[in-house]
Amino acid sequence: MNPILVLPSEKYKESFLEALAEQDPGQMNPLEGESYKRFNGDFEAFLAYLSDEREGKNLLEGRVPQTVYWIIDGEKFIGRISIRHRLNEALMHIGGHVGYSIRPSERHKGYGSIALGLVLPKVHELGIEKALLTCLKTNEASRRIIEKNGGIFENEVTNDEGLVSLRFWVPTT
Ligand SMILES: CC(C)(COP(=O)(O)OP(=O)(O)OC[C@H]1O[C@@H](n2cnc3c(N)ncnc32)[C@H](O)[C@@H]1OP(=O)(O)O)[C@@H](O)C(=O)NCCC(=O)NCCS
Repeated sequence: MNPILVLPSEKYKESFLEALAEQDPGQMNPLEGESYKRFNGDFEAFLAYLSDEREGKNLLEGRVPQTVYWIIDGEKFIGRISIRHRLNEALMHIGGHVGYSIRPSERHKGYGSIALGLVLPKVHELGIEKALLTCLKTNEASRRIIEKNGGIFENEVTNDEGLVSLRFWVPTT
């Protein structure tokens, strides 16, 4: 097992689409980061959108610049991990600086934990010394990933729908 982080690319299109097909349609924190559906299968336009988002261009209402990395092992798409370059009011409570998702068939193998470790230096490069990470209180796997990567618990918050999230700060060095 030797995952790496790469920028989204045409090279992994087939594997990415296979991963999407594995996913439960109601998945929270989906593999594509919530946007692919909007492109009706136009993969090129999807990549262009991600590139713009990385550069802070044409941002959708309420979004901050974000870099999406794909977690790749060999030639296989394993999942994605996204860095928000700054926090807005909403992300400060729930969402934080980093979000991730591992394809269902590759969960529970350690990829999520490794991916967060790999992304932290990239978060640091953006000038973020401590990254905010949040997870639902019920998401045991995500909580373990954050704690294993040095997350320091701050508090829990409840959203309008009554969902409880835990907030952690993770040093990026
Ligand atoms: C949460 C998620 C990213 C975990 O990824 P993963 O690659 O399976 O995680 P890992 O294999 O690195 O496991 C991390 C820890 O959680 C534990 N774990 C994994 N799946 C678990 C589960 N279903 N229930 C309880 N613990 C679990 C592992 O044993 C490991 O703990 P350990 O180090 O003490 O052994 C993945 O399940 C996922 O993509 N879920 C949907 C999207 C999501 O919830 N994203 C996070 C939003 S905050």
